[in-house]
Amino acid sequence: MAELKNQKKVAYVTGGSRGIGEAIVKTLALDGHHVVAVARNEEKLRALVNELGHLGQSVEPAVLDIADSAALAASIESTIEKHGRLDVLVNNAGITRDGLFMRMEDKDFDDVINTNLRAAFVACRAASRTMIRAKFGRIINIASVSGIMGNAGQVNYAASKAGLIGLTKSIARELASKQITANCVAPGFTTTDMTDILPPQIKDKVLEMIPLRRFGSPGEVAAMVGFLAGDAAGYITGQVMVVDGGMCM
Ligand SMILES: NC(=O)c1ccc[n+]([C@@H]2O[C@H](COP(=O)([O-])OP(=O)(O)OC[C@H]3O[C@@H](n4cnc5c(N)ncnc54)[C@H](OP(=O)(O)O)[C@@H]3O)[C@@H](O)[C@H]2O)c1
Repeated sequence: MAELKNQKKVAYVTGGSRGIGEAIVKTLALDGHHVVAVARNEEKLRALVNELGHLGQSVEPAVLDIADSAALAASIESTIEKHGRLDVLVNNAGITRDGLFMRMEDKDFDDVINTNLRAAFVACRAASRTMIRAKFGRIINIASVSGIMGNAGQVNYAASKAGLIGLTKSIARELASKQITANCVAPGFTTTDMTDILPPQIKDKVLEMIPLRRFGSPGEVAAMVGFLAGDAAGYITGQVMVVDGGMCM
């Protein structure tokens, strides 16, 4: 059994360099975790880690492409080796390759599934052995309202997010007896690089569907992740916590 080398709970957050993932890294670090933040763009990631380090928070970068299963598993294993523990896993990194499904290329389907769904499976598998030994673990997968409602132009993305919900519920059932919880957070439209690219007329249409009449902020999604990672959420597992301004109620 790995020796416990870090007194702090250790959290591994994919897509931690910007958007919702950046807010999750900040929330978990403020809540007292040591956070490993993962992304491909080294410069952006190091800038964030330095900024948080100056604020006294305990964050380290891991530069890798999570679609590379071997690299992802190796990164999680080295995190466990280094710190002797892994308490919280947040599968947040996600991509879109939108297009009408009749014209969608196989590659656009595969890329989205590999990054959004297969990587989460690989990361959960790599993290679970240590969590089982510790009889503690919090797995939090960032899904989407698209995975619940479907979305025209997003068959690949909606399938990946619906798949993530099924994966999470199955893991929740398999690992519950080890006191490991697994939940999804499903954001609605949230202001990040992912939604900044939407044309103004689409944004206006979307706003009409949101009872609260605004997009969410990354911090509002991260607050739910922080709650699920914390002590108060120990009896919640297999759930999809929707943070969408009421859009899919
Ligand atoms: N924004 C929304 O409205 C919304 C709504 C519902 C669900 N979500 C979900 O919330 C999550 C975060 O979304 P976001 O809006 O914050 O996205 P974002 O602003 O585009 O940020 C995505 C993050 O993931 C990282 N990333 C992407 N592909 C990666 C890969 N292959 N390997 C490693 N890191 C990778 C990016 O860093 P690099 O590019 O440097 O790798 C970045 O840190 C996603 O799962 C998304 O599907 C978002």
